Amino acid sequence: MNLRPATLAQIDEVITHYPVKRSAVLPLLHLIQEEAGYISNEAIEWVAQKLELQPINVYEVVTFYPMFRQKPIGRRHIKVCRTLSCALTGSYQVCEQFQKEFGCAPGEISPDGEATVEFVECLASCGTGPVVMIDDDLHEKVDCARARELSDQIKAAARARPQP
Ligand code: FES
Repeated sequence: MNLRPATLAQIDEVITHYPVKRSAVLPLLHLIQEEAGYISNEAIEWVAQKLELQPINVYEVVTFYPMFRQKPIGRRHIKVCRTLSCALTGSYQVCEQFQKEFGCAPGEISPDGEATVEFVECLASCGTGPVVMIDDDLHEKVDCARARELSDQIKAAARARPQP
C-alpha cells in the first residue's frame, strides 16, 4: 500500500487510541480515503492485515457506509446537494450543468480526469441552496450560471497546472 509517511505515522498513532486494534477500522479507512481518494481492494487487505482482521470484515464496513468510495475520483470532487431544500431551489439542474461542463455521468470521472460530479445528501446549509461542495469548499446559492463560472475556474486552474 503506497501511502505517504505522514499518513502511515497518523495510522500508527490512531491505532494506539483504541483498547483493541480492530476498533480503529473507521478512522483508518477515513485516512486512506483522504489520501487516495477511494478505498481499493488493496487498501482493504492492507487495513485487515494491520488490524488483524479478515479482509471480509473490512469490506463489510466499506460497503455499509455510503461515505466510503470504492472507485477512484477525478482531481476535483464536485458534490451537489440533492436533499429537499436544495432540490426545490434547482440543484438537479445545477448538477446537470456541472456534468455538461465536464462531459461526465454522475459519479464518473470526466474524460480529462479533472472532475467527478455527484449528488450527496444535505450539506447542512439548507437555507442557502442549491449548495455545492468542491473538494473542501462550500458554495451557496449556486445556480446554473454560477456552476458555469465555477467550472471555468476549475478548467483554468487545470490549464495553469504544470504538466508532468
Ligand atoms: S438540503 Fe441542501 S444543504 Fe441541506
